[in-house]
This record gives sequence, structure tokens and C-alpha cells, in this order.
Amino acid sequence: MKRRKFLQYTAATGLGLLGSGLGFGARASAEPGALPGTTGTAGAHTAAPHMPLHIPGDSGLLGMLDITTEHLTLDAHNTTLRLRQNTPSPFQVWSAKYAGKDYQNPIIRIKTGQHFNARLQNNLNEPNIIHWHGLHIPGDMDGQPRSMIDPGGHFDYAFDVPNRSGMYWYHSHAHHHTAQQVYFGLAGIYMVEDEDERALRNALQIEPGLNEIPLIIQDRQFNSAGELTYAFNPMQHHMGQLGDTILVNLTPHPKLEITNRLYRFRVLNGSNSRIYKLAFVHGDKMLPYSIIGTDAGLLERAHVTQQEYISPGERLDIVFDASQLRAGDEVYLKSLAFDPLEGGTMLGMGELMGGVSGWGGTEGARLDLGAEFEIMKIAVTRESPARPSGMIPPKLSTIARIDTGGAVRRDVRLTVRRMLWLINGETFTPDRYPLQSRSNTIELWDIQNAEMSMPHPMHMHGFSFQVVQRSNSPSQVRALAQDENGRLITDLGWKDTILVWPGETVRIATDFTHPYKGDQIYLFHCHNLEHEDQGMMVNHLVTAA
Ligand code: C2O
Ligand code: CU
Ligand code: CU
Repeated sequence: MKRRKFLQYTAATGLGLLGSGLGFGARASAEPGALPGTTGTAGAHTAAPHMPLHIPGDSGLLGMLDITTEHLTLDAHNTTLRLRQNTPSPFQVWSAKYAGKDYQNPIIRIKTGQHFNARLQNNLNEPNIIHWHGLHIPGDMDGQPRSMIDPGGHFDYAFDVPNRSGMYWYHSHAHHHTAQQVYFGLAGIYMVEDEDERALRNALQIEPGLNEIPLIIQDRQFNSAGELTYAFNPMQHHMGQLGDTILVNLTPHPKLEITNRLYRFRVLNGSNSRIYKLAFVHGDKMLPYSIIGTDAGLLERAHVTQQEYISPGERLDIVFDASQLRAGDEVYLKSLAFDPLEGGTMLGMGELMGGVSGWGGTEGARLDLGAEFEIMKIAVTRESPARPSGMIPPKLSTIARIDTGGAVRRDVRLTVRRMLWLINGETFTPDRYPLQSRSNTIELWDIQNAEMSMPHPMHMHGFSFQVVQRSNSPSQVRALAQDENGRLITDLGWKDTILVWPGETVRIATDFTHPYKGDQIYLFHCHNLEHEDQGMMVNHLVTAA
């Protein structure tokens, strides 16, 4: 596979030369206007092609919205957003007015046990539904294809949040529109807080919006005018959409200025299909960083690493200690090179992937899956005042191991036939229930990417699970294993999405006990959103005890 160097990629796309602040247009693609509160950089940094990272505040785009008893309405609509070259690009958002403030795709913040009440108002001209990724809520509140609402319609959500603290997220799940709607903006963060979380913030002495910063990483494709494009040939559709511009919090070519103290980065891979291998690179050195949490909250303790994979749908809670740096130092958050096909057995696939690089359809260079590139520049601009900075506490949380003695065993096979990705031979059929479990039952699933050519990030609705074992992992994955079961650091906490590499089998344990009345319908699917939309998804019926 041919890999392009990042510099070539930057030169080819002219990234950021005409960078500007993020700016919304008016609703429904009318004349665009500037979004108040964002800083334009046009003209100011012609020599430095980076844009300031958009850091969520307490309103506006990705603003932090604390749920109170006030009712929330999320209004789905078309708009424009100035992402690149000061060009209004077609975009879709959920906007809200809450506690007197305006939000677009808010970071919804709520406490464990709190009630959540919201209306989705669909003002798009296509179906829409919001799925609350990772939440343990009843099937009819989960936001699935069967709950899709038509243009002009609405859906009322009401549930208690049972989850432990963690960075969950919400996104469109309108079948056949999911990939495109997420691509054009319909995704946000759902932050749950509990006692562990409060204790951690105290110990770290961090504050959201200041030194605790969510990083939503997404790759996108732009045309030469600077508009988002989602057009692809059949092969790109089959493999998954890749873009050659990396956005963090919707900022292309972002730069973050920090002081030399502890930072917490809460990373969501919100990309349609791109996998990242995260590293903080200073000169020619990789700096150590700590993983403190995974999809569904904190690990028991921090684990130090230098590189970790994150696939679409997964989250990583990272503490980066910048006290190892000095003012003037520059660090790059990068995705390191890897081979997405290692372990694959379909030899023709490499050729096909190579072919994707040169396809027409949109302008600009392609960035291969597994290529090395910069995600974000981090510049240490000031030394921290000499006060004791926080520390990672030795114990973060408690994770009770699921007792798998007597568990029900199940094989879940990921295959491909005639360009269709399948789960146990099935493609998504609304009235079929290929996976059936009983409440009050513990199951062990062997998810096998047996004959496969591509990694698949597999996601379970309604429950969190634990990774028991990885077997037959490609060497680049095995190299990061923490124990004799082949598990990675990211496998040591509660998960809802798990990357299964070519040739690999991942064994997961789930306790399907739930408190809800009657049978519950959930989903199990690939979170490569093009795979999902093509039907790499099955209903999962969890019958009442
Ligand atoms: Cu994040 Cu069914 O999806
Ligand atoms: Cu989900
Ligand atoms: Cu897949």
C-alpha cells in the first residue's frame, strides 16, 4: 500500500492557508452569517497554517449544557458552517435553546441517576432519530431505525440515566442516512458524572473548558471551494468514507496552546471509518501519556502508554502531563502508521485499497487508512505558575469482573459476500432478530473476523461489556498487549465498541440483566458507518427474565 507523507498531503491540499474561525450560517442554507464568539484568524497567521482548536464553552457550537429540570428540545436542521477557506459549507446540526442560551450540538452534561427529558424536532427534509450511544436505557428510548421520524415530526425521549460516569455520545441512527448525517454534523457528546468523576477532578485539579478538553476527531473531505463533500465511488462506499482533512472539534488543522501542567483530553473518534493510532510526538520522541478511562468510564487505575488505537465510536480518557515540557516546546498529537490489512487473507484487498487513493469524485488528495499524519499541534506557551499541580490518584474506580462461570457461549462471525458485510450471515432486516439473549444471563461472545480483510469496530447497544481475550491478533496489535490474554489497555475497562482486526477473535463478556419491563430490542453493528448503513447490523432481542 502506498503511503503519502503528511507534508505532501498538507502541501497538496493547501490546508489552512485561508483558515478562519468556525462560523455558522443562518438556518436552511440562507445567507451565511458569522457565529458570534468565534475568533477568525484570516490574515493573522498566513505563515502558520494552524487554526485555534475550538474549545467548547458554555454555549454555542459544542457548548456545555447542564441538564436541569428545564425541558430540552433538539432541533435538527440544515445550516451552513464555515469550516475551511471561510466558505460556508453545507452542515446539519441539532440546535437548542436552554437556560437562556443557544447551542448547536451541545455537550449534554448530566449526573448518574438523573432524569433526561428531551424532544427531537425533525426539521430536516429527510428522516432523523437520535441514538444515545452507550446508555443503558430501554430499547424504545434508544433511538433506533425503527423509531425514525419523518420530516416535520418529533420524538419524545424520557429516561433515567443509569450509567456510571463517562463520555458517551449521541448521533443520528436514521438507517441509510446515518453515515451521511453524522458526516455532515449530527453528532455530539453526552457526559455523565458520578462520585468517582468528582473525586478525580479534585485530584487532578482540572476544570472542563480550561484543562479538561474533549477532542472529537473526525476526518472529512472538502472540495476546492472549501465545502464538505460526501461523494464516493462504490469501493469507497464498501470500505468506508475517508477524508484527508482531520477535524478536531470541527477545527481543521487545529492548534492548542497549553501551559506545562496536567491536561485531560477526552477523545471521541467520531469518524465514519478512520482508525487512529494516537501518540504525542515531541521532536523524534514519543511522550508517555496515561489512559484513565475507556468507552464507559474510568479504569480502575491509570496505565501509561505511548501509542493506542481508537476506532470509530470508541472513547479514550487521556491524561497528558505537560510538566515534562517547557515554554516554547511544540508537541504533535499524531496518528502513527499502521497496516489496516495486517492479518487479512483476501489478497486482492490491498490492491483495492490502493485503488481508492486515486479515485475521482471529489477534489484533493486522499489520505490512506493507516497513513501517518498530524491530528493537532500542541504548543506550550507559558510555564505554569509554581503551585502544586494535581496528580492522578492511584485508584480511579472499581470495576467488578463479570463472573463468566456457566456463561452462555455464542459465536459472532463477521464475513463478506458479494460486497455485503454480514454478521452471522445476516444483513440488517428490520423484522429479524438474529441475536437473542435473556435478561439475567451472562454471555460470552467470540466475535470472529475470520476470513476478513478489514478491521471492524463492533458496537453493542444497551449494555456495556468486558473484554476477556484477544486471540490471533495481528502483530501490531499483539505488540501493545498488556496480559497473557492479549488485551490492550483500552480493553481493561467497560466497553461498548470494540475493534476486531483482520483474522482476530475477541471474546467479550456481557451481563444482560436489565431492569426494564418486557422484551427489549437493541442492536449490534459495525460502527464503520458506511458498513452499518449497508446493513452490517442486526437486531438483538433481550427477552424479559
Ligand atoms: Cu453509536 Cu448504533 O451506534
Ligand atoms: Cu450505540
Ligand atoms: Cu465493518
